[in-house]
Order: sequence, then C-alpha cells, then structure tokens
Amino acid sequence: MKILVIGAHGMLGRDLANRLSSLSDPKNSGNEVIAVDREHIDITHGENTSKFIVQARPDVIVNCAAFSNVDACETQISEAFAVNASGARNVALVGKQTGTKVIHISTDYVFDGTNSEPYIETDKPNPISVYGKSKLEGELAVQEINGNYVIIRTAWLFGPFRKNFVTTMLELGRKNRSVSVVTDQYGSPTYTSDLSDAIRTAISKDLRGIYHVTNTGTCSRYEWARKIFELTGNQVSVLPLKTADYKRPARVPQNSSLDCVKYTTTTGQKMRPWQEALREYILKAR
Ligand SMILES: NC(=O)c1ccc[n+]([C@@H]2O[C@H](COP(=O)([O-])OP(=O)(O)OC[C@H]3O[C@@H](n4cnc5c(N)ncnc54)[C@H](OP(=O)(O)O)[C@@H]3O)[C@@H](O)[C@H]2O)c1
Repeated sequence: MKILVIGAHGMLGRDLANRLSSLSDPKNSGNEVIAVDREHIDITHGENTSKFIVQARPDVIVNCAAFSNVDACETQISEAFAVNASGARNVALVGKQTGTKVIHISTDYVFDGTNSEPYIETDKPNPISVYGKSKLEGELAVQEINGNYVIIRTAWLFGPFRKNFVTTMLELGRKNRSVSVVTDQYGSPTYTSDLSDAIRTAISKDLRGIYHVTNTGTCSRYEWARKIFELTGNQVSVLPLKTADYKRPARVPQNSSLDCVKYTTTTGQKMRPWQEALREYILKAR
C-alpha cells in the first residue's frame, strides 16, 4: 500500500512517517510511505496539490498538515482557514477525484468544553476559537466531499518532534523553581507515537467515519505538569492557576476529553493510559 503523509515535518506527521516506514516493524511490510510537507505540497493551492497527488498515486492520504498554533489563529484568521479549512477541502477533492481514501486529523477543540463527560463522536461540535472553527470547517468539507474518509479527532499531543506542553514545562522547570499551571482545563494527553500506531490500524482495518483517538484517562494541565516533574525527578513546584487568571488570545475548552470507545470496539485495540505513554516518552528523551 502506498501511503502519502502530508504535513510530514510536523510533530505528528514526522512520527507517523517514521513509524510507518520503519523496516524493523513487520506491520509495515509491503507499505511504501511518501512523506511530504509544505515545500512539496502547499495544501492551500488546490491545483498543485492535485498535480502532486495525481502523479504520486497513493492508496491512502493522511493529512497531518495544519495551522496548529491556537493563539496565532486568533489574529491570522485567513491563514488559519486557508490551511485548516480550504486546505482540508483541497485534499478531500483530490481524494474524490482519484478514488483515494483520506484520513484527516482533527481536534478536541471543535467542542466547547462544557460537557461533564468525555465527548463522543456524535456530540455536536461548537468551537469557541478560530482554530476550532477552522478545523471544524475542514472536517465538514472532508465529510461532504469524499465518502471514503476517516476523521480522527485527537488532543493534547506530545512527542519527540517539535515543541509541546511537555518540552515547555521542562524548559520552564530548568529556568525556574516553580511554574504556574491551570487547574481547570481537562483533557487527555496523547503520545504521537501511540496515535501513529492507531492511524496505521485505521488504515489496515479500513475504518470509515469519525473516531476519537487519545491516550486513555483525563487530567488537568496542572496534574499533567506535576506528572512530568515527578517522572523527570526535577524539583519544581507546580502552582495552581485558574484559566480566568491566565490571559491568552484564544479561548479554550474547559473539558475537552474525548471518549475513545468507538475506536476500541471497532478495532479491538485499546490506547494505553497517558501516564504510561508519558513515562516512555520521557525515558526515550533522556
Ligand atoms: N498539537 C496538538 O496538541 C494537537 C491537538 C489536537 C489535534 N491536533 C491536530 O493534529 C494534527 C497534527 O498537529 P501537529 O501538532 O503535528 O502540528 P504541527 O507540528 O504544527 O505540524 C503541522 C505541519 O503542517 C505543515 N503545514 C502547515 N501549513 C501547510 C500547508 N499550507 N501545506 C502543507 N503543509 C502545511 C506545517 O509546516 P510548517 O512547519 O512549514 O508550518 C507542519 O509541518 C493537526 O491536524 C492538528 O490540528 C494537534
């Protein structure tokens, strides 16, 4: 199977492309991976995107490309919609034109975060940020254009490629004896390597439709930060902070944890708890 990974220099895309092409994993036998980023395909340009994909003739396209800086999206609104909405639409259109399955990566931020329970796939999205709105528009385009799609909503990514919450905490912890972290935002930290394996499962099991995929368990950002320093052994105090006292450009959901039961029952694969995934990531990073 020929798999095209778009956004392959990003945090998820790079891990995914590496894991799908690792020859030491027998699950990859027979697969060919084409890993591309903006310099090969700019998904905001429909014609170039189409030309590249028609020539490459993949069996599956995984679109990991995004304008993912949630705060920057608030001021760079047209750029956010160009990548997250029109870009997703362009990829879906080529998928339809060439009869290729499209796996589109989306986000917990399509929800408003007011649920007391983890969100299931059929819950109504109601984004409260430009990022969330642009990602939802991308999801809707994918669903409308090409019936052969999988939308994977994920959350709170960390991994070996690019800056993320874990690397930010570690950097702050190196410079300060304490860090202040919000106690009233809940979600599910997710290791890009585990998510990459789930994407491979989605390909091999030929899934269709919307799936929520995160590591299991829910925590606050405050609990996440405490776990990071516990695992690294850094003597850093984590001080509680309320979202209302932490000014940032974008509004973010209070509880955006995702229920992954549909993925588990459909595939027979259970994602591991976020604490285990975090431990492995930190051990590997040492
Ligand atoms: N990070 C999270 O916590 C999180 C949470 C939930 C969902 N997600 C979703 O997961 C997916 C992967 O996120 P990520 O954290 O890996 O993002 P990332 O690290 O920002 O990677 C995104 C990649 O897309 C590329 N890209 C941007 N605009 C493009 C364009 N017009 N054409 C082609 N490529 C373009 C970027 O290239 P440049 O570096 O050149 O801009 C970058 O390599 C995204 O769909 C995101 O919305 C992420």
